[in-house]
Amino acid sequence: MNVLFKNIKELIQVRETPVTFLAGKEMRSLPTIKNAFLLVKDGLIADYGLMKNCPDIEIKTIDATGKMILPSWCDSHTHLVYAGNREGEFVDRIRGNSYQEIANKGGGILNSAKKLQETSEEDLYNQSKARLEEIIQLGTGAVEIKSGYGLTKDAELKMLRVIKKLKERYPIQIKATFLGAHAIPLAYKDNKNGYLQMLIADILPTIKREGLADFIDIFCETGYFSANDTQQILEAGKKYGLIGKIHVNQFTAIGGIQVGVKNDVLSVDHLEEMRTEDIETLKKTQTMPVALPSCSYFLSIPYTPARKMIDAGLPLALATDYNPGSTPSGNMNFVVATACIKMKMTPEEAINAATINGAYAMSLERKVGSITRGKLANLILTKEINSYHFIPYSFGNPCIEKVFLKGTEIK
Ligand code: NIG
Ligand code: FE
Repeated sequence: MNVLFKNIKELIQVRETPVTFLAGKEMRSLPTIKNAFLLVKDGLIADYGLMKNCPDIEIKTIDATGKMILPSWCDSHTHLVYAGNREGEFVDRIRGNSYQEIANKGGGILNSAKKLQETSEEDLYNQSKARLEEIIQLGTGAVEIKSGYGLTKDAELKMLRVIKKLKERYPIQIKATFLGAHAIPLAYKDNKNGYLQMLIADILPTIKREGLADFIDIFCETGYFSANDTQQILEAGKKYGLIGKIHVNQFTAIGGIQVGVKNDVLSVDHLEEMRTEDIETLKKTQTMPVALPSCSYFLSIPYTPARKMIDAGLPLALATDYNPGSTPSGNMNFVVATACIKMKMTPEEAINAATINGAYAMSLERKVGSITRGKLANLILTKEINSYHFIPYSFGNPCIEKVFLKGTEIK
Protein backbone atom coordinates (compact mmCIF):
# COMPACT_ATOMS: atom_id res chain seq x y z
CA MET A 1 0.00 0.00 0.00
CA ASN A 2 1.21 3.53 -0.88
CA VAL A 3 0.08 6.51 1.15
CA LEU A 4 1.32 9.94 2.17
CA PHE A 5 0.43 11.34 5.61
CA LYS A 6 0.61 15.13 5.66
CA ASN A 7 0.57 17.82 8.35
CA ILE A 8 1.25 15.35 11.19
CA LYS A 9 1.24 17.40 14.38
CA GLU A 10 4.00 15.18 15.81
CA LEU A 11 5.63 12.05 14.43
CA ILE A 12 6.67 9.97 17.43
CA GLN A 13 9.52 7.48 17.98
CA VAL A 14 11.56 8.54 14.96
CA ARG A 15 14.81 6.58 14.89
CA GLU A 16 17.00 7.71 12.01
CA THR A 17 19.70 5.21 12.99
CA PRO A 18 18.15 1.84 13.86
CA VAL A 19 18.40 0.82 17.52
CA THR A 20 18.11 -2.72 18.92
CA PHE A 21 16.74 -1.74 22.32
CA LEU A 22 17.01 1.06 24.86
CA ALA A 23 18.25 0.73 28.43
CA GLY A 24 18.43 2.92 31.53
CA LYS A 25 18.78 6.64 30.76
CA GLU A 26 18.39 6.03 27.01
CA MET A 27 14.75 5.25 27.69
CA ARG A 28 14.14 8.86 28.75
CA SER A 29 14.29 10.23 25.25
CA LEU A 30 11.62 9.81 22.63
CA PRO A 31 12.68 11.50 19.38
CA THR A 32 9.89 13.21 17.44
CA ILE A 33 9.39 15.51 14.45
CA LYS A 34 6.77 18.26 14.73
CA ASN A 35 4.75 19.25 11.63
CA ALA A 36 5.85 16.23 9.66
CA PHE A 37 5.05 14.09 6.65
CA LEU A 38 5.34 10.31 6.39
CA LEU A 39 5.52 8.47 3.08
CA VAL A 40 4.58 4.78 2.86
CA LYS A 41 5.51 2.73 -0.22
CA ASP A 42 4.71 -0.96 -0.70
CA GLY A 43 3.72 -1.22 2.96
CA LEU A 44 7.06 0.09 4.21
CA ILE A 45 8.12 3.41 5.69
CA ALA A 46 9.83 5.01 2.68
CA ASP A 47 10.49 8.52 3.93
CA TYR A 48 9.56 11.12 6.54
CA GLY A 49 10.60 14.61 7.54
CA LEU A 50 9.47 18.19 8.02
CA MET A 51 6.37 19.30 6.07
CA LYS A 52 8.47 21.86 4.24
CA ASN A 53 10.31 18.94 2.60
CA CYS A 54 7.16 16.96 1.80
CA PRO A 55 7.37 15.44 -1.71
CA ASP A 56 4.89 16.72 -4.26
CA ILE A 57 3.59 13.47 -5.73
CA GLU A 58 0.32 11.99 -6.99
CA ILE A 59 -0.54 9.47 -4.29
CA LYS A 60 -3.33 8.72 -1.82
CA THR A 61 -3.00 11.36 0.89
CA ILE A 62 -4.24 11.46 4.49
CA ASP A 63 -4.38 14.81 6.23
CA ALA A 64 -3.28 14.38 9.85
CA THR A 65 -3.73 17.99 11.00
CA GLY A 66 -3.84 18.11 14.83
CA LYS A 67 -3.08 14.36 15.05
CA MET A 68 0.00 12.33 15.84
CA ILE A 69 1.48 9.15 14.40
CA LEU A 70 3.42 6.56 16.32
CA PRO A 71 4.57 3.03 15.54
CA SER A 72 2.03 0.34 16.51
CA TRP A 73 2.36 -1.25 19.93
CA CYS A 74 4.57 -4.35 20.13
CA ASP A 75 3.02 -6.81 22.58
CA SER A 76 5.71 -9.40 23.30
CA HIS A 77 3.78 -11.60 25.76
CA THR A 78 0.26 -12.96 25.27
CA HIS A 79 -1.72 -16.17 25.59
CA LEU A 80 -4.56 -14.95 23.39
CA VAL A 81 -5.33 -18.37 21.93
CA TYR A 82 -7.57 -19.93 24.59
CA ALA A 83 -10.98 -21.52 25.00
CA GLY A 84 -13.78 -20.07 27.09
CA ASN A 85 -13.19 -17.72 29.99
CA ARG A 86 -12.70 -17.86 33.76
CA GLU A 87 -15.03 -15.15 35.05
CA GLY A 88 -16.22 -17.58 37.75
CA GLU A 89 -12.72 -17.62 39.26
CA PHE A 90 -12.66 -13.83 39.06
CA VAL A 91 -15.77 -13.66 41.27
CA ASP A 92 -14.29 -16.33 43.59
CA ARG A 93 -11.26 -14.07 44.09
CA ILE A 94 -13.48 -11.11 44.90
CA ARG A 95 -15.10 -13.32 47.55
CA GLY A 96 -11.70 -13.93 49.16
CA ASN A 97 -10.09 -16.98 47.52
CA SER A 98 -6.55 -16.37 46.31
CA TYR A 99 -5.32 -17.03 42.74
CA GLN A 100 -3.08 -19.79 44.12
CA GLU A 101 -5.88 -21.39 46.18
CA ILE A 102 -8.08 -21.52 43.10
CA ALA A 103 -5.26 -23.09 41.06
CA ASN A 104 -4.56 -25.66 43.79
CA LYS A 105 -8.21 -26.79 43.65
CA GLY A 106 -7.96 -27.59 39.93
CA GLY A 107 -8.93 -24.14 38.68
CA GLY A 108 -6.47 -21.84 36.97
CA ILE A 109 -4.38 -23.12 34.09
CA LEU A 110 -5.79 -26.67 34.45
CA ASN A 111 -9.33 -25.28 34.15
CA SER A 112 -8.41 -23.54 30.87
CA ALA A 113 -6.62 -26.69 29.66
CA LYS A 114 -9.73 -28.81 30.20
CA LYS A 115 -11.83 -26.34 28.22
CA LEU A 116 -9.28 -26.16 25.43
CA GLN A 117 -8.91 -29.93 25.13
CA GLU A 118 -12.69 -30.15 24.61
CA THR A 119 -12.73 -27.38 21.97
CA SER A 120 -12.28 -28.10 18.25
CA GLU A 121 -9.45 -26.46 16.34
CA GLU A 122 -11.98 -24.49 14.29
CA ASP A 123 -13.83 -23.20 17.33
CA LEU A 124 -10.52 -22.31 19.02
CA TYR A 125 -9.47 -20.43 15.90
CA ASN A 126 -12.74 -18.47 15.81
CA GLN A 127 -12.59 -17.55 19.51
CA SER A 128 -8.96 -16.47 19.16
CA LYS A 129 -9.28 -14.48 15.94
CA ALA A 130 -11.90 -12.28 17.63
CA ARG A 131 -9.29 -11.34 20.25
CA LEU A 132 -6.62 -10.77 17.60
CA GLU A 133 -8.95 -8.44 15.68
CA GLU A 134 -9.75 -6.61 18.91
CA ILE A 135 -6.09 -5.92 19.76
CA ILE A 136 -5.36 -4.76 16.20
CA GLN A 137 -8.06 -2.10 16.65
CA LEU A 138 -6.37 -1.17 19.95
CA GLY A 139 -3.17 -0.35 18.08
CA THR A 140 -1.11 -3.52 18.35
CA GLY A 141 0.95 -4.22 15.24
CA ALA A 142 3.13 -7.12 16.42
CA VAL A 143 2.27 -9.80 18.94
CA GLU A 144 3.73 -12.93 20.50
CA ILE A 145 1.27 -15.75 21.27
CA LYS A 146 1.99 -18.75 23.51
CA SER A 147 0.68 -22.29 23.72
CA GLY A 148 0.40 -23.71 27.24
CA TYR A 149 -3.32 -24.27 27.73
CA GLY A 150 -3.19 -27.65 25.99
CA LEU A 151 -0.92 -29.70 28.27
CA THR A 152 -1.28 -32.80 26.04
CA LYS A 153 0.50 -33.41 22.76
CA ASP A 154 -2.70 -33.03 20.72
CA ALA A 155 -3.94 -29.94 22.48
CA GLU A 156 -0.57 -28.15 22.50
CA LEU A 157 -0.18 -28.79 18.77
CA LYS A 158 -3.78 -27.64 18.22
CA MET A 159 -2.93 -24.32 19.86
CA LEU A 160 0.25 -23.90 17.83
CA ARG A 161 -1.58 -24.71 14.59
CA VAL A 162 -4.19 -22.08 15.41
CA ILE A 163 -1.39 -19.54 15.95
CA LYS A 164 0.11 -20.55 12.60
CA LYS A 165 -3.24 -20.04 10.87
CA LEU A 166 -3.64 -16.59 12.46
CA LYS A 167 -0.16 -15.75 11.22
CA GLU A 168 -1.03 -16.80 7.67
CA ARG A 169 -4.38 -14.97 7.55
CA TYR A 170 -3.74 -11.65 9.32
CA PRO A 171 -1.41 -8.79 8.35
CA ILE A 172 -0.18 -8.29 11.95
CA GLN A 173 3.30 -9.67 12.81
CA ILE A 174 2.95 -12.81 14.94
CA LYS A 175 5.56 -14.89 16.78
CA ALA A 176 4.71 -18.27 18.33
CA THR A 177 5.99 -19.65 21.63
CA PHE A 178 5.81 -23.24 22.88
CA LEU A 179 4.82 -23.11 26.57
CA GLY A 180 4.06 -26.78 27.20
CA ALA A 181 5.71 -26.36 30.62
CA HIS A 182 2.98 -24.02 31.87
CA ALA A 183 1.54 -26.34 34.54
CA ILE A 184 1.72 -30.01 35.47
CA PRO A 185 -1.39 -31.77 34.09
CA LEU A 186 -3.33 -34.16 36.33
CA ALA A 187 -2.21 -37.18 34.29
CA TYR A 188 1.37 -36.43 35.41
CA LYS A 189 0.49 -35.16 38.89
CA ASP A 190 3.24 -37.16 40.63
CA ASN A 191 5.52 -37.42 37.62
CA LYS A 192 6.66 -33.94 36.67
CA ASN A 193 9.80 -35.28 35.08
CA GLY A 194 7.77 -37.65 32.92
CA TYR A 195 5.77 -34.66 31.70
CA LEU A 196 8.92 -32.70 30.85
CA GLN A 197 10.31 -35.72 28.98
CA MET A 198 7.05 -35.98 27.01
CA LEU A 199 7.32 -32.31 26.02
CA ILE A 200 10.93 -32.76 24.98
CA ALA A 201 10.86 -36.16 23.27
CA ASP A 202 7.35 -36.19 21.89
CA ILE A 203 6.24 -32.64 21.10
CA LEU A 204 9.42 -30.72 20.24
CA PRO A 205 10.28 -32.86 17.17
CA THR A 206 6.81 -32.22 15.66
CA ILE A 207 7.07 -28.50 16.40
CA LYS A 208 10.38 -28.43 14.56
CA ARG A 209 9.10 -30.50 11.63
CA GLU A 210 6.01 -28.33 11.12
CA GLY A 211 7.72 -25.02 11.94
CA LEU A 212 5.19 -24.28 14.66
CA ALA A 213 7.21 -22.14 17.10
CA ASP A 214 9.88 -19.46 17.28
CA PHE A 215 10.42 -19.49 21.04
CA ILE A 216 10.21 -21.82 24.05
CA ASP A 217 8.89 -20.77 27.46
CA ILE A 218 8.38 -22.26 30.95
CA PHE A 219 6.57 -21.11 34.11
CA CYS A 220 9.46 -21.10 36.60
CA GLU A 221 7.60 -20.77 39.89
CA THR A 222 7.12 -22.48 43.26
CA GLY A 223 4.56 -25.26 42.77
CA TYR A 224 5.10 -25.28 38.99
CA PHE A 225 8.58 -25.72 37.51
CA SER A 226 11.97 -25.30 39.21
CA ALA A 227 15.17 -23.62 38.07
CA ASN A 228 16.49 -27.11 37.13
CA ASP A 229 13.39 -27.82 35.04
CA THR A 230 13.94 -24.45 33.37
CA GLN A 231 17.50 -25.42 32.50
CA GLN A 232 16.28 -28.69 30.96
CA ILE A 233 13.57 -27.04 28.86
CA LEU A 234 15.85 -24.23 27.63
CA GLU A 235 18.54 -26.73 26.63
CA ALA A 236 16.04 -28.90 24.79
CA GLY A 237 14.59 -25.85 23.04
CA LYS A 238 18.05 -24.81 21.85
CA LYS A 239 18.56 -28.21 20.21
CA TYR A 240 15.42 -27.54 18.17
CA GLY A 241 16.37 -23.97 17.33
CA LEU A 242 13.94 -22.34 19.76
CA ILE A 243 15.07 -19.23 21.64
CA GLY A 244 14.13 -19.02 25.34
CA LYS A 245 11.65 -16.64 27.00
CA ILE A 246 10.62 -17.39 30.57
CA HIS A 247 7.79 -16.68 33.03
CA VAL A 248 9.75 -15.94 36.18
CA ASN A 249 9.62 -14.16 39.57
CA GLN A 250 5.84 -13.69 39.46
CA PHE A 251 5.18 -14.81 43.04
CA THR A 252 8.56 -16.07 44.27
CA ALA A 253 12.21 -15.67 43.27
CA ILE A 254 13.73 -19.16 42.89
CA GLY A 255 16.78 -18.56 40.72
CA GLY A 256 15.07 -18.65 37.31
CA ILE A 257 16.56 -15.34 36.18
CA GLN A 258 20.07 -16.68 36.75
CA VAL A 259 19.27 -19.80 34.68
CA GLY A 260 17.68 -17.66 31.99
CA VAL A 261 20.66 -15.33 31.65
CA LYS A 262 23.07 -18.29 31.64
CA ASN A 263 21.11 -19.65 28.67
CA ASP A 264 20.93 -16.27 26.87
CA VAL A 265 17.15 -16.11 26.91
CA LEU A 266 15.63 -13.32 24.86
CA SER A 267 13.36 -12.16 27.68
CA VAL A 268 12.44 -12.72 31.32
CA ASP A 269 8.81 -11.88 31.95
CA HIS A 270 6.63 -10.91 34.97
CA LEU A 271 9.32 -9.91 37.54
CA GLU A 272 6.88 -8.75 40.19
CA GLU A 273 9.30 -10.10 42.86
CA MET A 274 12.82 -8.83 42.19
CA ARG A 275 15.76 -9.32 44.55
CA THR A 276 18.82 -7.09 44.28
CA GLU A 277 20.79 -10.06 42.95
CA ASP A 278 18.21 -10.54 40.18
CA ILE A 279 18.71 -6.95 39.02
CA GLU A 280 22.48 -7.43 39.18
CA THR A 281 22.27 -10.63 37.11
CA LEU A 282 20.42 -8.84 34.31
CA LYS A 283 22.97 -6.02 33.98
CA LYS A 284 25.05 -5.97 30.78
CA THR A 285 23.16 -8.86 29.20
CA GLN A 286 21.13 -9.10 25.98
CA THR A 287 18.09 -10.37 27.92
CA MET A 288 15.05 -8.07 27.94
CA PRO A 289 13.11 -7.79 31.22
CA VAL A 290 9.37 -7.62 30.48
CA ALA A 291 6.77 -6.15 32.85
CA LEU A 292 3.07 -7.05 32.67
CA PRO A 293 1.26 -4.32 34.65
CA SER A 294 -2.26 -5.42 33.67
CA CYS A 295 -1.58 -8.74 35.41
CA SER A 296 -0.51 -6.94 38.60
CA TYR A 297 -3.62 -4.80 38.34
CA PHE A 298 -6.02 -7.70 37.83
CA LEU A 299 -4.52 -10.00 40.49
CA SER A 300 -3.68 -7.19 42.96
CA ILE A 301 -0.07 -8.33 43.21
CA PRO A 302 3.01 -6.05 43.28
CA TYR A 303 4.01 -4.17 40.13
CA THR A 304 7.39 -4.92 38.59
CA PRO A 305 9.83 -2.43 40.19
CA ALA A 306 10.40 -0.58 36.93
CA ARG A 307 11.92 2.54 38.50
CA LYS A 308 14.51 0.55 40.39
CA MET A 309 15.36 -1.50 37.31
CA ILE A 310 15.62 1.37 34.83
CA ASP A 311 17.55 3.49 37.34
CA ALA A 312 19.98 0.56 37.65
CA GLY A 313 20.57 0.86 33.90
CA LEU A 314 18.40 -2.04 32.73
CA PRO A 315 16.12 -1.99 29.69
CA LEU A 316 12.42 -2.80 30.15
CA ALA A 317 9.64 -3.84 27.79
CA LEU A 318 5.90 -3.67 28.50
CA ALA A 319 3.40 -6.31 27.37
CA THR A 320 -0.19 -7.31 28.17
CA ASP A 321 -0.04 -11.04 29.15
CA TYR A 322 -3.55 -11.32 27.58
CA ASN A 323 -4.92 -14.61 29.02
CA PRO A 324 -8.14 -15.92 30.62
CA GLY A 325 -6.81 -16.21 34.19
CA SER A 326 -4.50 -13.43 35.26
CA THR A 327 -5.10 -10.79 32.55
CA PRO A 328 -8.24 -10.96 30.43
CA SER A 329 -7.24 -7.80 28.56
CA GLY A 330 -5.04 -7.19 25.53
CA ASN A 331 -5.12 -3.41 25.70
CA MET A 332 -1.60 -1.97 25.30
CA ASN A 333 -2.95 1.57 25.81
CA PHE A 334 -4.00 0.55 29.31
CA VAL A 335 -0.61 -1.12 29.86
CA VAL A 336 1.25 2.08 28.90
CA ALA A 337 -1.01 4.19 31.13
CA THR A 338 -0.70 1.80 34.08
CA ALA A 339 3.10 1.73 33.73
CA CYS A 340 3.09 5.53 34.10
CA ILE A 341 0.48 5.69 36.86
CA LYS A 342 1.54 2.73 39.02
CA MET A 343 5.16 2.08 38.09
CA LYS A 344 6.19 5.73 37.77
CA MET A 345 7.59 5.32 34.29
CA THR A 346 7.59 8.55 32.30
CA PRO A 347 5.49 8.62 29.10
CA GLU A 348 8.75 8.52 27.10
CA GLU A 349 9.99 5.42 28.95
CA ALA A 350 6.63 3.69 28.67
CA ILE A 351 6.30 4.36 24.93
CA ASN A 352 9.86 3.13 24.32
CA ALA A 353 9.09 0.03 26.40
CA ALA A 354 5.90 -0.68 24.45
CA THR A 355 7.41 -0.17 21.00
CA ILE A 356 11.12 -0.73 20.28
CA ASN A 357 11.87 -2.75 23.43
CA GLY A 358 8.78 -4.91 22.88
CA ALA A 359 9.89 -5.48 19.29
CA TYR A 360 13.31 -6.64 20.55
CA ALA A 361 11.61 -9.08 22.96
CA MET A 362 10.13 -10.78 19.85
CA SER A 363 13.28 -10.53 17.68
CA LEU A 364 11.35 -8.08 15.49
CA GLU A 365 13.39 -4.93 16.14
CA ARG A 366 14.52 -4.75 12.53
CA LYS A 367 10.93 -4.80 11.24
CA VAL A 368 8.80 -2.81 13.69
CA GLY A 369 8.90 -0.65 16.83
CA SER A 370 10.02 2.69 15.44
CA ILE A 371 9.55 5.15 12.59
CA THR A 372 12.62 4.15 10.59
CA ARG A 373 13.03 3.92 6.81
CA GLY A 374 12.53 0.35 5.61
CA LYS A 375 10.45 -0.78 8.58
CA LEU A 376 6.85 -1.95 8.18
CA ALA A 377 4.29 0.87 8.12
CA ASN A 378 2.43 -0.49 11.15
CA LEU A 379 1.11 2.74 12.59
CA ILE A 380 -1.29 4.37 15.01
CA LEU A 381 -2.93 7.64 13.94
CA THR A 382 -4.16 9.38 17.08
CA LYS A 383 -7.21 11.55 17.54
CA GLU A 384 -6.52 15.28 17.88
CA ILE A 385 -4.40 15.61 21.03
CA ASN A 386 -2.18 18.32 22.45
CA SER A 387 0.84 16.24 23.39
CA TYR A 388 1.79 12.57 23.48
CA HIS A 389 1.58 12.76 27.27
CA PHE A 390 -2.14 12.60 26.71
CA ILE A 391 -1.81 8.94 25.57
CA PRO A 392 -1.10 7.53 29.08
CA TYR A 393 -3.00 10.35 30.80
CA SER A 394 -6.26 9.40 29.16
CA PHE A 395 -6.14 5.91 30.68
CA GLY A 396 -8.98 3.61 29.73
CA ASN A 397 -9.84 5.82 26.74
CA PRO A 398 -7.53 5.00 23.84
CA CYS A 399 -6.62 8.09 21.79
CA ILE A 400 -6.64 6.09 18.56
CA GLU A 401 -8.44 7.31 15.45
CA LYS A 402 -7.14 4.80 12.89
CA VAL A 403 -4.72 1.90 12.75
CA PHE A 404 -2.59 0.81 9.77
CA LEU A 405 -0.77 -2.45 9.09
CA LYS A 406 1.71 -2.34 6.22
CA GLY A 407 0.21 1.01 5.31
CA THR A 408 -3.35 -0.31 4.93
CA GLU A 409 -6.05 1.01 7.23
CA ILE A 410 -7.62 -1.84 9.22
CA LYS A 411 -11.32 -1.26 9.91
O1 NIG B 1 1.41 -15.29 32.56
N1 NIG B 1 1.81 -17.07 35.16
C1 NIG B 1 1.54 -17.96 34.41
N2 NIG B 1 0.71 -17.96 33.37
C2 NIG B 1 -0.20 -16.93 32.96
C3 NIG B 1 -1.56 -17.01 33.51
C4 NIG B 1 -2.09 -18.37 33.74
C5 NIG B 1 -3.55 -18.44 34.02
O2 NIG B 1 -4.00 -18.08 35.12
O3 NIG B 1 -4.26 -18.89 33.12
C6 NIG B 1 0.44 -15.58 33.21
O4 NIG B 1 -0.02 -14.82 34.07
FE1 FE C 1 2.03 -15.07 30.69
